[in-house]
Amino acid sequence: MPAERIDGVAIAAKVRARVAVDAAALKQRGVTPGLTVVLVGDDPASAFYVGAKEKACKEAGMNGETIRLPATTTEAELLAVVDRLNADPAVHGILVQMPVPKQISAQAVIRRIAPEKDVDGFHPVNAGKVLIGDADGFAPCTPAGVQVMLMEAGVDTSGKEAVVLGRSTIVGKPMAALLIQSGKGADCTVTICHSRTKDLASHTRRADILIAAIGKPEMVTADMVKPGAVVIDVGINRVDDPSQKKGYRIVGDVKYDEVSQVASKITPVPGGVGPMTIAMLLANTVRAATLSAKPEGAR
Ligand code: GUN
Repeated sequence: MPAERIDGVAIAAKVRARVAVDAAALKQRGVTPGLTVVLVGDDPASAFYVGAKEKACKEAGMNGETIRLPATTTEAELLAVVDRLNADPAVHGILVQMPVPKQISAQAVIRRIAPEKDVDGFHPVNAGKVLIGDADGFAPCTPAGVQVMLMEAGVDTSGKEAVVLGRSTIVGKPMAALLIQSGKGADCTVTICHSRTKDLASHTRRADILIAAIGKPEMVTADMVKPGAVVIDVGINRVDDPSQKKGYRIVGDVKYDEVSQVASKITPVPGGVGPMTIAMLLANTVRAATLSAKPEGAR
């Protein structure tokens, strides 16, 4: 029987609807959740994502502002913008779109953002909080979205073997950190595989939950997947396809057609994990606003 398709568009819509309800409740208390995105330079892909984030904020009843800076911006100038946003009480979330131009250190910028406004979950303080299971930390949006998808798709994660392909700071490592915590959508036994892992398939074939985040088009094939596994595909890869008007198509890290014949549940690309990322960004921003509205002692 072919796998059940986990619909990321529908789950993201559900998350966004919940965010809109929370944002409306905060507004009643006089706090409008606000996200400010900083875009340095004019990379078209980044400009597209930033536009989508601003639009999503407005649709959820939040303030969404974008600060556009020239590609020649210095690190000191960008850090000064971050300092100003850190000090602005109307700004609850700050996101500096990556990548930044080469004269700017991404790490210096990430470390300058106040951890309580770091809705990307990239700051080392938030990475640490996610690892220790501190509930007031912000998890990076993509792995947080994967965890919500598992819960919404009714996947029982407790005691399951989860194998994460990829050890990036933004997806693989925080994904593993989320899945090893105790609680809903977690309690997994986790293996992280990466480019130096020997006999990759021997690990992936043990997975009850397989999460592919390696950035290699259609690398996960049916023979690497245990029958009945839940397969989550985080990959977004562009491959040449002359039959398409654009000359390319987008595929994941998983060979969907064949793996969907073996798995019990699977996410498609596009329409799987991708839409969850912005939804979780909104969710993190509303949570940042909620935490900021609470008196210090009640946090
Ligand atoms: N560039 C691509 N994705 C992201 C993201 O999630 N956050 C930031 N800050 N930059 C990105």
